[in-house]
Amino acid sequence: MIDLLIQQAITASNNAYVPYSEFPVGAVLRATDGTLFSGCNVENAVYPVTICAERTALVKAVSEGYHSFDLIVVVTRSGGSPCGMCRQMLYEFSPDMQVVMADFKGHIHHQASLRELLPLGFSPIDLLE
Ligand code: THU
Repeated sequence: MIDLLIQQAITASNNAYVPYSEFPVGAVLRATDGTLFSGCNVENAVYPVTICAERTALVKAVSEGYHSFDLIVVVTRSGGSPCGMCRQMLYEFSPDMQVVMADFKGHIHHQASLRELLPLGFSPIDLLE
């Protein structure tokens, strides 16, 4: 199953719009009911406007009414981990989701819960105190 999701994330990375970094990223986010959302990074001539693959997948999911997730698979050529901005956006919805980081050959470099990747993350509950 995880191999299929990695392949799906690699396919998503083929649509990455990366004229500046030439660093394609693909992601597949799984909702707790099993629905899958893919995403790629989309860069911009105003560099900070760029959206990462993980947030592309998340925004697609939330815009279709999904708020609960158990897994995200991220593929890069280095098998690197999601940036801080993506960790924070994902944490809003499902801090206990698993994060699988793989490369384009399908090798898994790291796997951790989002809570491990963003210790003491700020969440909606914090606004209620
Ligand atoms: N990027 C992602 O899409 N996800 C990550 O986890 C790390 C970085 C993108 C942003 C930018 O388009 C390129 O990779 C280089 O930083």
